[in-house]
Amino acid sequence: MRTQVGIIGAGPAGLLLSHLLHLRGIESVVLEARNRSDIESTIRAGVLEQGTMDLLNEAGLGARMLAEGAVHHGFELAFEGQRRRIALTELTGHSITVYAQHEVIKDLVAARVAADGALKFGVSDVSLHDFEAGGTSHPRITYTHEGDRHQLECDFIIGCDGSQGVARGSMPQAQRHDYQRIYPFGWFGILVEAPPSSDELIYARHDRGFALISTRSPTVQRMYFQCDPKDSADAWSDDRIWAELHARVDTHDGWQITEGRIFQKNIVGMRSFVSTPMQSGKLFLAGDAAHIVPPTGAKGMNLAVSDVRILTAALREFYETGTSDQLDRYTETALKRVWRAEHFSWWMTRMLHKLDDTSPFEQRLQVAELEHVTTSRAAATALAENYVGSVAV
Ligand code: FAD
Ligand code: PHB
Repeated sequence: MRTQVGIIGAGPAGLLLSHLLHLRGIESVVLEARNRSDIESTIRAGVLEQGTMDLLNEAGLGARMLAEGAVHHGFELAFEGQRRRIALTELTGHSITVYAQHEVIKDLVAARVAADGALKFGVSDVSLHDFEAGGTSHPRITYTHEGDRHQLECDFIIGCDGSQGVARGSMPQAQRHDYQRIYPFGWFGILVEAPPSSDELIYARHDRGFALISTRSPTVQRMYFQCDPKDSADAWSDDRIWAELHARVDTHDGWQITEGRIFQKNIVGMRSFVSTPMQSGKLFLAGDAAHIVPPTGAKGMNLAVSDVRILTAALREFYETGTSDQLDRYTETALKRVWRAEHFSWWMTRMLHKLDDTSPFEQRLQVAELEHVTTSRAAATALAENYVGSVAV
């Protein structure tokens, strides 16, 4: 089989790239290891920047997101028993939308299927060949599908296969440099059948650790609290979870989070990671395959979308004019936004979590910083610009 662009991974990055290329008359094939119902039900991100929304809308993918997503004009920072608002729209002119990643995935898969897009689920043993720089390269992806071995020839291979994929590891080791920080804590995430506790998201700092109150719909809420990444979700009874969340988020004026039936629990580890360069010959990486951020800044999926926007423009330039200037500069262009998001996500994480080495002195510094970002308009604006993704890079 032959196509123009071979894409590995049907996460937000791979599916959106395939769809945007299709709208520009460029053919692609997407190879995905899992099956359709798995990718459409994995619970992950929730916050979409306005730029992400705009791109999905322009690509004709916005109908359900506009109907079911919730536009938020601010969020709250909770600390020392009180809540303070960051007025995103007032400070930046931009809002965010809470719409679950797996709903975005459903919309993207539906659009690919409606357009007869080539999307293969359940592939295994994927390997990449002949993508090195030079006129003689004939990029190929080999893989197993429904028991048979296949070969896909293409002009370019795009690795959108997430943090555990094969594409990054296929790049020549000598060319790569990885930057990494692993945090000594994770997030315990729950889905709860309950009305929202608050109109806006709440990021809470407490001496016991971080907590986040987010939402999915008027009847389903998403909440997280900092935990040991090696802990087991089963070790936490519902009562213990509620006691921990109340201790970290309830305020001194008697306001409390609303409890409900917990129907999903999971623990995720946290790391910051950047692999450079994001390209080698005719192989390009996009999204989590190239970089990871801790979820505190709500940036991961938005960064994946930003990589895809840059790659789409570069591939379009190549196919329309034959020049590869934008492709050649892909790493340089994408990394500016990536490093901005890496810094912001690390900074939010450090300000809000109980760190291993947090002494009473550092705890007071965290509170002083929270006081500052919630009282200085300049500091609040800097935070808000990063959060909504409107910051200049
Ligand atoms: P992925 O979504 O990981 O997709 C990669 C795909 O490739 C997968 O479907 C995988 O099965 C497939 N694959 C892997 N290996 C292979 C292979 N060998 N062959 C074929 N296919 C393969 N981001 C935000 O922007 N906002 C948020 O609010 C937010 N909250 C988050 C909360 C949590 C708890 C977590 C864990 C993450 C959060 N993120 C958030 C991050 C976001 O979920 C990721 O950044 C996003 O999924 C990255 O998309 P991707 O397409 O690059 O990779
Ligand atoms: C979510 O709703 O899952 C969510 C929201 C904000 C974050 C991370 C995750 O920063």
